[in-house]
Amino acid sequence: MKRLADSPAAPADPAFSELLVAWQKQHGRHRLPWQQTRDAYRIWLSEIMLQQTQVATVIPYYQRFLLRFPDVAALAAAPVEEVMALWAGLGYYTRARNLHRCAQAVVAQHGGRFPSDVDQLAALPGIGQSTAAAIAAFAYGARAAILDGNVKRVFCRVFGIDGFPGQAQVERMLWQRAAALLPARDIESYTQGLMDLGATVCTRSRPRCGDCPMQSRCVAHASGRTAELPVRRPRKAVPEKSTVMLVVMHADELLLEQRPPTGIWGGLLSLPELDRLGAAADGETGSEVRLALAGIGQVATIEPLPPFVHAFTHYRLHVTPLQVLLSSREAMAGQSPYGWHPTGSLAQAALPAPLKKLLGLG
Ligand code: ADE
Repeated sequence: MKRLADSPAAPADPAFSELLVAWQKQHGRHRLPWQQTRDAYRIWLSEIMLQQTQVATVIPYYQRFLLRFPDVAALAAAPVEEVMALWAGLGYYTRARNLHRCAQAVVAQHGGRFPSDVDQLAALPGIGQSTAAAIAAFAYGARAAILDGNVKRVFCRVFGIDGFPGQAQVERMLWQRAAALLPARDIESYTQGLMDLGATVCTRSRPRCGDCPMQSRCVAHASGRTAELPVRRPRKAVPEKSTVMLVVMHADELLLEQRPPTGIWGGLLSLPELDRLGAAADGETGSEVRLALAGIGQVATIEPLPPFVHAFTHYRLHVTPLQVLLSSREAMAGQSPYGWHPTGSLAQAALPAPLKKLLGLG
């Protein structure tokens, strides 16, 4: 549970809410269907539908829902299948199951009236801290802080917050900000203003900074960092893999593997790799190479080539290439993925770029 009273780190900033409230009254949205009411049931229904879903998509669902379930008692009494059927097409169906469970809890535990206390609201199924605050503010005028993805983006940009907002420490700091910024009055316009600013002006890509009431005090705008803030989820450490690749030559031909159609270098030709040849790893490279190539030819010499690292999207591959000369070679089975290619034709072959480089072809 967020303790909004514990906000030692975040400074008060009355100009923020004053600018936002004035902007919302003049430029914000006022005619959305759930703005015409103080009915907590209707506000709750809209807030659940608006989680992860655009306003334009929600409106017809919201209206159909209210026609069929005009109050929380009607929804609680309905079979869950009917609720699911009316939700069909909105996606994120856990929301619909929780919606039904929440309606039943409001009837059973709160006499059919949504509580006005944020913590009591947040204890109901499907209602998180921010949704609880939105319901409390819009239905009951409670001075409660919201913090959804849009609001996080606005705060990170305006105040130049540099951490990834999904990180617990950064999120805690954002909640403290959200609490410290709350105005003494006009909580409805303020809360709607945060939502409207995030949805219509301070958008993820191509924000309309020229229309923003915070432009002159926005850290991201002043430093040209609207594209970098909020900070994106840090990339996971890339795994490191290693392989031994063989440059197997006989006369003026090179042994190549036709890779399977899917996976790394799918469908391309590639150098044979020791583990793909099914060599038993006994730790002694020379004997492993001889064993791996037993059906292909007689090994004469093995020489190391310069190792290199290739970065794939999901891992880094450390390649140890070995040059192997054969003194003789076996006839190749027809269906084998391995085949001999004249070195003179390799420049046009479908080889991955790092291997062309290794072979001195590109
Ligand atoms: N997104 C979440 N809550 C909203 C609301 N009340 N109005 C518009 N968009 C929203």
